[in-house]
Amino acid sequence: MIPSSKSADKRHPTPDFDAWLASLRSHFEPRLASALDRLLVDTPAELQDAIRYAALDGGKRLRPALVFLGSLEGRPWPDLDDPAHESLWPAAIAVELIHVYSLVHDDMPCMDDDDLRRGRPTLHRAFDEATAVLAGDAMQALAFATLADARTDEAMRLDWIRQLASGSGPAGMVGGQAIDLSLAGNREASDIATLADLHDRKTGALIRAALAMGGRWSGLSPRQAGQVDLFGRLLGRAFQIQDDILDVTGSAEALGKTPGKDLAADKCSYVTVAGLDRARRELDETVRRAHAALWELGTLGTDSHALSSCLDFVIHRQH
Ligand code: IPE
Ligand code: IPE
Ligand code: MG
Ligand code: MG
Ligand code: MG
Repeated sequence: MIPSSKSADKRHPTPDFDAWLASLRSHFEPRLASALDRLLVDTPAELQDAIRYAALDGGKRLRPALVFLGSLEGRPWPDLDDPAHESLWPAAIAVELIHVYSLVHDDMPCMDDDDLRRGRPTLHRAFDEATAVLAGDAMQALAFATLADARTDEAMRLDWIRQLASGSGPAGMVGGQAIDLSLAGNREASDIATLADLHDRKTGALIRAALAMGGRWSGLSPRQAGQVDLFGRLLGRAFQIQDDILDVTGSAEALGKTPGKDLAADKCSYVTVAGLDRARRELDETVRRAHAALWELGTLGTDSHALSSCLDFVIHRQH
């Protein structure tokens, strides 16, 4: 479970982002729950339970937030009560379903072998391994079904499907996960450039897809979209460097997942390969470049306050 917003407020120097993200969650949770009610008709009961267990009531919901932030609609924040935004929710739901499927598979014994996720037993622990494989498979299919049924014009639906397929697929998240596993136990063969590529794929690609889906919805110019994409790559890298740092500095209570896993599994993370100080320096440099990308975006007549706050949230997050 995510800690209460009260305690998060104390830790994060981003109270405006915290408040907006909390509001996004309060809009998102009932929409995801009712989407699953529709999508899981005619699904075996245990599989339904497993999917709801993994997908509902947990997580920061950062990727759905990025769908809205990528639209660059709203000064300074996208207005979540605006009925005009209604057609964007299917994109937010689809991205989160892919993310949850990636977490379920990432935790399995054949990958990271984790017992704890979002403050409770991982899906394969609460159910069994075969159910976890199948629930992940199902959530991937449900994500694309959600996009196919979205009430948008056909060209946008197709673009969304392409963006999500490419962000989550073998050149994106799945490819990153494959590299992550293949480098385990081989830290000497890894350097900062390898790590950047690994992070860009396993984490950055889905984050970029979320932003791009929002940008497609609001019809950004190619230059704006390109600049948001550059920012997204750096945001994704910063997100995963902070994840690597939290793996050694965080507690199970705060993280909702078991710390110390990267070293124990001999994974190639920024910390295990380069050390904590170097990881922090790389994070600072990534953030500097991300701010430069936002400054450029500003020259295109865009208010980047929300994206900038999101970046601050990502690097100061404690879970
Ligand atoms: C965890 O993502 C997986 C990584 C890409 C590091 P999050 O930290 O966004 O996890 P939830 O969705 O909040 O649980
Ligand atoms: C996972 O990275 C990224 C995914 C694609 C799920 P990690 O393995 O570092 O994520 P955590 O630490 O288990 O959340
Ligand atoms: Mg992993
Ligand atoms: Mg993991
Ligand atoms: Mg991690």
